Amino acid sequence: MSWILSEDFAADPYRHFTRLREQAPVHYEASIDSYFLSRYPDVKRVLTDHEAFSTETLQVRAEPVMRGPVLAQMTGAEHTAKRKIVVRGFTGQALQDQTRAIRANAAELIAPFLPRGRVDLVNDFGKPFAVRVTLDVLGLDRDDWQQVAAWYRGIAEFITSMTLTPERRRHCLECAEQLEAYLAPVIDRRRRRPGEDLISRLCAAEFDGTALSDRDVTALLVNVLVAAAEPADKTLALLFKHLIDHPGQLAQVRRDPALLPAAVAETLRYTPPVQLIPRRAERDAVFAGTTVPAGAAVFCMIGAANRDPGAFADPDTFDIHRPDLGTARSFTAAAQHLAFGTGLHQCVGAAFARAEIETVAALLLSLFDRVRYSPGFRYRESGLYTRGPASLSVDFTPEETVRR
Ligand code: HEM
Repeated sequence: MSWILSEDFAADPYRHFTRLREQAPVHYEASIDSYFLSRYPDVKRVLTDHEAFSTETLQVRAEPVMRGPVLAQMTGAEHTAKRKIVVRGFTGQALQDQTRAIRANAAELIAPFLPRGRVDLVNDFGKPFAVRVTLDVLGLDRDDWQQVAAWYRGIAEFITSMTLTPERRRHCLECAEQLEAYLAPVIDRRRRRPGEDLISRLCAAEFDGTALSDRDVTALLVNVLVAAAEPADKTLALLFKHLIDHPGQLAQVRRDPALLPAAVAETLRYTPPVQLIPRRAERDAVFAGTTVPAGAAVFCMIGAANRDPGAFADPDTFDIHRPDLGTARSFTAAAQHLAFGTGLHQCVGAAFARAEIETVAALLLSLFDRVRYSPGFRYRESGLYTRGPASLSVDFTPEETVRR
């Protein structure tokens, strides 16, 4: 009988993690012929032993919709070089300029909701916000956000679904084709008239003395689009949920915004939006006395690993002051939590995600007084691969009304 694919697991995976870690740390899910690892050291081992565990599974999942090679499936010098090009687009001076765009997008999107004192932080705000910010950074027209979001969601569905009907498969492939057709003339224009955006950087970049082809540029753009927006909007909503559920910590963050990085880092540890990271075992590997055979698909359970009591004390408690989190390194390669993965393929957007979520959370907290769930709101999360609130309707007293 299926465990990971059961309705009970889908409703609340966190209730299952202790049992998985203690009784089935190497859980074989026969229906999808895959192994699920839930202990922190095992997950860390898989993500850092690049010889024994490859990203081949991702390649198979992503290839038909990414239209070319993406970072996740690259190795060696090619991965290092192309990753560096993308990282440069999201750090240093580029990041400082982007922070202004982040704030402007957030202020514009929240404005119509301020007089009402009510907003759904997922559907009214978080989703459009995260997509528009990503389009700005890439250098795409933010007014196209709904269309672009529909296409990349189709692509994400293809990559993250455990089962896909032929109709959905067709739909996902169509989304990929349409997004590629939308990007082609933009890439062409940037090759002729470059700007400061990521598309221009990718067009100007070289690997091994050769400029990246249109296919390479398209794949990397789709890669960033699919990777960037969804976990960011989920993290923002989860941050507000945890703060509302812990009013004492909310009050502390409001009083001292310097605590926001810790609140974001603890949100990522406690409820990582990317719950599963797939790999393929390249040779037989033994975990807790169980052999995972060469060629097997392996899923690292990030949510379970981040709640391993061997890695974090009192792991089921949300605590922005926890000493074992190490906030300063939580957005770097040395992070103790695994929400950004770890090793060679660790998230390239971690610093950007930090700036994005902190900036918008600081703005919203400065505009909202007495933020609370809307009357009658019922919290529900969804997603196995990536997971977050289906909606988060909050009421607040606009700060200006308070001051008047
Ligand atoms: C809170 C927000 C985010 C979370 C939790 C997150 C999580 C992750 C995780 C878990 C991985 C590792 C996958 C693996 O090992 O196979 C990853 C990779 C990646 N992320 Fe993020 N991500 C976030 C935001 C972003 C943003 C904002 C961007 C773009 C600016 C981005 C771009 C990427 C890319 C391109 C990769 C592939 C890196 C590689 O394979 O070398 N992510 N992310």
